[in-house]
Amino acid sequence: MSRYMVTSALPYANGPLHLGHLAGAYLPADIYVRYMRMCGNDVLFCSGTDEHGVPITITAEKLGITPMQAVDKFHTIIAGDFEKFGISFDNFSRTTRPEHIEFAQSVFLDLLGKGHIVPKDMKQLYCPDCKRYLPDRYISGTCPKCGSEDARGDQCESCGTWTEPFELIKPRCGICGATPETRDTRHWFLLLDHFQQWLEGWLGGQSDWKTNVLKYCYSWLDDGLRERAITRDLAWGVPVPLEEAKGKVLYVWFEAVLGYISSTREYFAKAGKGPDEWKKYWQNPDTRLVQFIGKDNIVFHCIIEPALLHGLSNYTLPWNVPANEFLNISGQKFSTSKGTGIGLGDYLEHFAPDPMRYALAVNAPESRDSDFTWLEYQSRNNELADVLGNFINRTLKFTASKFSNSVPVADLDMTLLNKAGKAAEEIAVLMESFKFKKAIVAAMELAREGNRYFDAAKPWKSLKTDPEQCAVTVATCLNLCASLAVIFEPFIPFSMEKTRRMLRLEKLQWSDAGSALLKPGHGLGEAEILFQKLEDGFETVMNKPETSIKAEEKEPETLEVDFEDFMKIEFKVGRILTVEDIKKAKKLYKIEVDTGDKVRTVVAGMKKHYTKEELQGRLVAVVCNLKPAKLCGVVSHGMLMASDGGSGVFLIEPGADAKPGDTIR
Ligand code: MF3
Ligand code: ZN
Repeated sequence: MSRYMVTSALPYANGPLHLGHLAGAYLPADIYVRYMRMCGNDVLFCSGTDEHGVPITITAEKLGITPMQAVDKFHTIIAGDFEKFGISFDNFSRTTRPEHIEFAQSVFLDLLGKGHIVPKDMKQLYCPDCKRYLPDRYISGTCPKCGSEDARGDQCESCGTWTEPFELIKPRCGICGATPETRDTRHWFLLLDHFQQWLEGWLGGQSDWKTNVLKYCYSWLDDGLRERAITRDLAWGVPVPLEEAKGKVLYVWFEAVLGYISSTREYFAKAGKGPDEWKKYWQNPDTRLVQFIGKDNIVFHCIIEPALLHGLSNYTLPWNVPANEFLNISGQKFSTSKGTGIGLGDYLEHFAPDPMRYALAVNAPESRDSDFTWLEYQSRNNELADVLGNFINRTLKFTASKFSNSVPVADLDMTLLNKAGKAAEEIAVLMESFKFKKAIVAAMELAREGNRYFDAAKPWKSLKTDPEQCAVTVATCLNLCASLAVIFEPFIPFSMEKTRRMLRLEKLQWSDAGSALLKPGHGLGEAEILFQKLEDGFETVMNKPETSIKAEEKEPETLEVDFEDFMKIEFKVGRILTVEDIKKAKKLYKIEVDTGDKVRTVVAGMKKHYTKEELQGRLVAVVCNLKPAKLCGVVSHGMLMASDGGSGVFLIEPGADAKPGDTIR
């Protein structure tokens, strides 16, 4: 048995969660934690909301409420959605809790005492128009590293580098665009360079970490670590615990990364355990600290946090930081602030958590960005229904109707159950190396195996021809259902709990997979359908269907055309004379059309909409003076007018008495 301290990045309490968050730092962590618990390990899973920082004050201003009211509101929403989605935190805290504030302040003082933090007089940008010190992220300018003109004073989104306001070339006020002025102030700096050498050695020993994570860290170390200001002139945040620093707060990232520890401390305090209990997790070299984050958080968890923990000394260091890439939606970045993406709360109002857990796990951005579409979700949902749901359902239904709903007295076919045991072993290796995507694919393969077995054994036939064999099949399939309930539990816990209820089984251990869990004569519960298949268009019940998510897209501007310009178009009635296929063109016809003056060749994309016979002899509206264009080897001298919308494509038809060559206007 090992001890695991597992964390997920603390989400900002300035908006509801969306699917992008889940796929990055929460669902993988929950899958891991549930698996580790099933293996009998001592696991603690802590997180909470990140409630300080400028974005929170801006959100509050926009909503016309205080920052405290804003974080109260979003903490409640976020915590509720996590719970409904089955993210099984042991504790989900908040960085505005007194326990956190005290702890963060004590860390600041500790590091100050050790000389890793020092005060410095410095200059800060002040916007004369807005009359305020500009928080880093409200300064825009040119990135010193990649040259992007949209870098912010805290980070450049193009190259991901952590910038400082004064490094920006040509800084602007990010709120009003004015050129800021420089004012004197005093701030406290973390001397990160103190940790450069130690970090190089420590990270050098983490060769089993994901390569994207290590690469990122090394690019930081190669640039050389420098001191970083960890205090700010702001009203909202953890006050700097020094008399001379009145009105200043700790930089949000400095205190937020300590939120994992304060959440753990809070957990034990709430449980009424001893005051040092948390140290088993956080001050113990044998504890495996696993931190799940998105790739934009790597520097804070792999450089800053370890530096702080090492500076404090005696603290547990990260054992692994399996950072994920991003989940996009139909090619666009998920973003709370831009209103793009699918809200978790909105999703949960309409659908069950498990199909989304499954779809996101299969499609996880583990080694590269991945893309969410409703089409993919639909096919994953239907896969759950057709493969896993179907196997469990047909097995249980058959048992209910033919074996009075109890496990038949029969030997088991161990070749099938051994496959389940082997699959569980393979999946365990994948889970322990954070390859959840491969793990769930392997799990589904086992369910497929079950269906193949059932199909090949044909119990509905053997029931009459060889009842003993039929009993073997059914008892074996039931036990495979139990193994599947073990293996799928970390991924889709709600449905597997239901399955266990149907099988009348208590909570299972990982090692139970592949063994004979259901004894002959064991009575079963009532079979229920686990997953509902989804028809096309199911997603329109969501408040924000995918098509309206392209928020950034501008309304197309209407282009006005002068009357003279319009009259330049030679628009005539024509009659179709002949229609031919064009080699290799799936959609196009070559059409000869009489437009009064002459017979012209037109290439038209009508093949999917009309047969040749339907077109032959038809009156059509033709644009005659389009510049000739070559399509699939045939030169087209005009265009047939047609309506094209959701209802289909229809040729515009002049009245029956019109003659080829008549002008249309
Ligand atoms: N709130 C940050 C984000 O959503 C993550 C903070 S993680 C912590 O990106 F460790 F700093 F808390
Ligand atoms: Zn300004």
